[in-house]
Amino acid sequence: MEDTVRLEITLSVEQVAFGGQGLGRLPDGKVCFFPGVIPGERVQVRIRRQRASYAEADLVKILEASTDRVKPPCPVYGRCGGCQYQHVKYSRQLLIKRDQVADTLRRLGGLVDPPVEDTVPSPLEYDYRNRITVHAKAGRIGFFEPRSRKIVGVAQCPIASGPVNALLAALRTSRPQDGEYPLREPGEFRGFRQVNEAVAACLLDVVEDMASPGGELLVDAYCGAGFFAKRLREMFRLTVGIEWSVDAVRAARQGLRDGEVYLLGDVKQHLVPAMAAAPGEGTTLLLDPPTEGLDPEILACILERRPARIIYISCNPATLARDLKRLSGAYSVRRVKPVDMFPQTAEIEVAALLEKLP
Ligand SMILES: C[S@@+](CC[C@H](N)C(=O)[O-])C[C@H]1O[C@@H](n2cnc3c(N)ncnc32)[C@H](O)[C@@H]1O
Repeated sequence: MEDTVRLEITLSVEQVAFGGQGLGRLPDGKVCFFPGVIPGERVQVRIRRQRASYAEADLVKILEASTDRVKPPCPVYGRCGGCQYQHVKYSRQLLIKRDQVADTLRRLGGLVDPPVEDTVPSPLEYDYRNRITVHAKAGRIGFFEPRSRKIVGVAQCPIASGPVNALLAALRTSRPQDGEYPLREPGEFRGFRQVNEAVAACLLDVVEDMASPGGELLVDAYCGAGFFAKRLREMFRLTVGIEWSVDAVRAARQGLRDGEVYLLGDVKQHLVPAMAAAPGEGTTLLLDPPTEGLDPEILACILERRPARIIYISCNPATLARDLKRLSGAYSVRRVKPVDMFPQTAEIEVAALLEKLP
């Protein structure tokens, strides 16, 4: 076992999988995952762990570097678990994410040729996050190391915005107690807010395009403070948002227009009555669930009511793929648009448009 643990191997990087780990093959064909690489590179890795069907390794040396390799600006890059792609030229990050979405939809979604479009870039490659959460322990303030609860101290976080870094600097001088500290740019609403506002504006354009030309009824499930509903409400006779956060619904109910309603509570409880407000043919259902995706009860309700269109916003390609597969007997996937809400990190946001099969 000791020999296996120390084993160093040279291999080629076939792809970078969702999560940011490079994928290569050991001499026996077993898949091996390791961080910090770019497809096409030749690297030396040290095996850290052997599992039944795959191995995990640490990167030792880059033997043949990609022309898309760049110098990461952050002094703790690689030791901090927050970013996975600072070593990759931004235009290549967008391609990697697009390929990951297509690959996930093929493998887990059963789509033979998923209609995945180019990734919408973030106008800001750094300085974009309007909130971060840092941890304090024994005087050290920062983020967790990869796969660990050990804290890497950070003075400044290059993906966080200036105002958020100012809050971090203030926190550091206040000698905080051990604990977790959310740092957010000032703003009135404390509930869910898109992390990268410039990209959120691009996402609104994508969703508006997908919802066009509108219709009778828009049901915006998991609507937060009405981020999408308020943009789309003029396109529909009736807009119904569903959200269980009291603060978010209170914010959504400000500035209501005719035909705009927000229901407070679980989507499971409100989806059936909300969709009953118009026939399925005139209905667009917008879904923006948390990372776990859709509950089977929600999927059953969709398959029963059969709205004409579904716009599914997802922050997790794996659960998106699973849910699209469950809807595949009744819907076809028309468009899939990755949107780079989180540059330098492995996270991916996707908008998918589904249309009911005849
Ligand atoms: C990913 S956020 C999207 C928010 C909103 N669409 C936006 O863009 O600002 C998911 C939202 O769903 C809400 N939520 C999660 N599970 C829910 C459920 N079962 N019923 C109602 N709301 C839920 C959360 O409170 C959160 O506001």
